[in-house]
Amino acid sequence: MAPAGSRFPRVQVLRERHSIIGVNNHSTPSLAGRLRSKLAEELPPRRLYHVLGVEGLAVHLAGQWGASAEKAMLAALLHDAAKTLPDSEQKALMMDSPVFTAGEEDLAHAQLWHGPAATSLAVQEYGIQDREVLEAVAYHTTGNPGVGTLGLVLYVADYLEPTRSFADVSELRREVLPLPPRRAALAVARRKLRHIANRGRKAHGRTIAMEQWLRDTLSAD
Ligand SMILES: [Fe+2]
Ligand SMILES: [Fe+2]
Repeated sequence: MAPAGSRFPRVQVLRERHSIIGVNNHSTPSLAGRLRSKLAEELPPRRLYHVLGVEGLAVHLAGQWGASAEKAMLAALLHDAAKTLPDSEQKALMMDSPVFTAGEEDLAHAQLWHGPAATSLAVQEYGIQDREVLEAVAYHTTGNPGVGTLGLVLYVADYLEPTRSFADVSELRREVLPLPPRRAALAVARRKLRHIANRGRKAHGRTIAMEQWLRDTLSAD
């Protein structure tokens, strides 16, 4: 049953604009089904196929790496839920995130706002309180030093899902997907940093810190 309204005005506006289903006291399978239906209504086809591709790969990796398949499914379905909203709404939702505090560098990288923004939608519109899921969603683009296995699942699945088509994606999948989680995430982090450098851009500090953390913890094993 959808709640009558939101105590967050911005979320209420979003609900009216996008007819988002309010879901509380749900089971994961029915919530995932509702999320899929809602995404199918709202996302452009290419983005929808990406999200469903992330879902499939995330569930697979969760099985390989000992994470919860249900949480992987929810995190994948939610991770880009705010991506098609205007920047101003993404920013407002990011500032309401229960698991993310935006620093100056975050405020300067609008392309990263949709992750933290989706955590506000997850809580307020879908009743999802699970911190592991919310943190995986918040940091899915940059990663975050110390991230747990679910976060690694989403980080890798988002980059290597089947509809990704960058030049060396097939080789990267073959190389990376059989690896254990931190080694797989390190390969993805390095590929992301290389891509950012090739485009002449400056990487976000958390992307750099993620690669460093993975390298340090793996060499300490
Ligand atoms: Fe994303
Ligand atoms: Fe994504």
